[in-house]
Amino acid sequence: MEIEAARRRVDQLRREIRHHNRRYYVDNDPEISDRRFDALLAELEQLERRFPELDDPDSPTHRVGGEPIPGFRTVAHRVPMLSLRNTYSAEELREFDARVRRYLLHDAPLAYCVELKIDGIGVALRYREGRFAQGITRGDGLQGDDITPNLRTVRALPLQIDEAEPPPPDAFEVRGEVFFPRSAFERLNRRRTAAGERAFANPRNAAAGTLKLLDPREVAERPLRLFVYQLVAERNEMPATQTELLARLRRWGLPVSPHVHRAASIEEAVALAANWNARRRELDYDIDGLVLKVDDLELQRRLGATGKAPRWGIAYKFEARGAVTRVRSIHVQVGRTGNATPVAELEPVELAGTIVRRATLHNADEIRRLDLRIGDRVTVEKGGEIIPKVVAVHAEQRRGDERPFRFPERCPVCGEPLTREEGGVAIRCLNEHCPAQLKRRLLHFASRQAMDIEGLGAALADQLVELGWVRDLADLYHLEAGALATLERMGEKSARNLIAAIAASRQRTLDRFLFALGIRHVGVAAARILARAFPGIAHLQQARAEELAELGEIGPTIAQSVAAYFGRAETTELLGRFERAGVRPAPPPAAEGAAPLEGLTFVLTGTLPGIGRGEMRRQIEAAGGRIASAVSPRTDYLLAGDRPGSKLRKARELGVEVIGLERLRELMRERA
Ligand code: IVH
Repeated sequence: MEIEAARRRVDQLRREIRHHNRRYYVDNDPEISDRRFDALLAELEQLERRFPELDDPDSPTHRVGGEPIPGFRTVAHRVPMLSLRNTYSAEELREFDARVRRYLLHDAPLAYCVELKIDGIGVALRYREGRFAQGITRGDGLQGDDITPNLRTVRALPLQIDEAEPPPPDAFEVRGEVFFPRSAFERLNRRRTAAGERAFANPRNAAAGTLKLLDPREVAERPLRLFVYQLVAERNEMPATQTELLARLRRWGLPVSPHVHRAASIEEAVALAANWNARRRELDYDIDGLVLKVDDLELQRRLGATGKAPRWGIAYKFEARGAVTRVRSIHVQVGRTGNATPVAELEPVELAGTIVRRATLHNADEIRRLDLRIGDRVTVEKGGEIIPKVVAVHAEQRRGDERPFRFPERCPVCGEPLTREEGGVAIRCLNEHCPAQLKRRLLHFASRQAMDIEGLGAALADQLVELGWVRDLADLYHLEAGALATLERMGEKSARNLIAAIAASRQRTLDRFLFALGIRHVGVAAARILARAFPGIAHLQQARAEELAELGEIGPTIAQSVAAYFGRAETTELLGRFERAGVRPAPPPAAEGAAPLEGLTFVLTGTLPGIGRGEMRRQIEAAGGRIASAVSPRTDYLLAGDRPGSKLRKARELGVEVIGLERLRELMRERA
């Protein structure tokens, strides 16, 4: 055969093999038998051997693996590979949806792309000029190992990208998951045990172990698979939605899971999740849940990420990971507001990567509901919270020496009687001076979002209360550096720093001060609302519950709690002591450094009740918003007062949302 004829045949074979590879791995719809496929491959191999000048590194024959490598090079990711936050229930999925829509100020249902969460190894695959150029493990998210030679053996991974409409960018990266099919995993383990080698614990470990082999030829013998689910490219190269993106990747010949659904709302997504939980065994690979992604990629971009996880996506795990252990004892912990919470002391057990020694039991009713006894074997779970909880008692495993727990009648710290709240489940110590409460109140007072006193930690709070140096919060302002320096783990320098930090806190804003006081039910948000509505502490002291509740955003529980707090003689006394110590909270700025309106463009029209244009403009800009003079498609909101002008009509035409002053305030709070 002459070389030209050979070249034509080689080209044709490569095209055919690529096509069938794609039918098999991408379309999940093979046209020919494995035997026929192997015959094509054998013919190509033979030709390449006869005409070495026709060889090409991207030829399908090279899936058998190249030369062994000495080690892997570390490569930085261009865009960090984040991870997803986990949820375990429909409830938590709905909360996620509510959070996303609040952030986006989006009232209508949001569409989600629902994908399987493949339990494999995350990889980034870089393509240049249509060819696979480099493959990197997720590593720590910032940098990973260059495992290109190993990935080249993965048959589902196209070494060349198909021409398609729209064409692939010159350079792009896709991300996905390399995994081991279950059937192949079992075969591999059987072979390994027969050969006296250690079996892999699960398909995921098998995939990880395989990708890290230094001999690509060995990797080639293991039938790794791949699904991709993300594209990293320039903004103008991206389609409008995640579902379209996946369709596009598939057109380029990249393997995309066939189980992708577009859910028009969170309820549809929840229904899909329930359905998949039942069907997961149908698949020949492990999934550990589903992934929900806001389908609209522009919205994804606006949502961005916090720390290690994007705001636009969430993992829904099928089973909350639980661990079984034994309850050694139960003790009662008294919190800042006097709540007495039972806590189970456990035999240490590993749970989702950490050792768990304690779990909350919430309250006495919960113990009764679980019928929990000391000595019982229990399942503990980590939900969304940091503190694990006891979710089940294994009564069938009792040995007979388990003892019921009797809730103490007196506070374990101060000895005062514990009282059950009327109509509630909480049992509380009502002694304001209970050292347990005071210590926690002090820590709360000093915490970052409150008075932000650096250097006041738990060990110091304990000492201050136990020595009687701090009997109420205002005592903090009478501490002296000389005395502090004599305390355990306190040098002169740290004593001086602490005194300086305490002194600086005298000027904190009113919202922080209100939050710091630790009034029941008053969190950061409520404190902000109160501080903006009342110019000073003195005004708040005079406010009645009804007046507070009229603020609209303050519910009746908070209103009553605030009124009751300020109505007490002890409060008046304490506030007087703060005042004399020079604590004079300043009115809070519009939005304390935060920029709740960032990224939003407003246009003003008409007369706003009780506020001038100039002041309104200042407030919006101080909150990070932008003011434009005319309504355009880029306007987010038209803020309309009385007698609006033609801008109102224009806004209606363009579908720009029209809001009033009240809704604007709401936006600022929601996004603060
Ligand atoms: S999207 C910002 N989609 O699960 C991360 N991840 O904790 C976006 N995974 O590191 C990832 N299947 O390795 C995405 N359909 C899927 C996935 C998936 C599995 C893995 C991935 C990621 C981890 C998330």
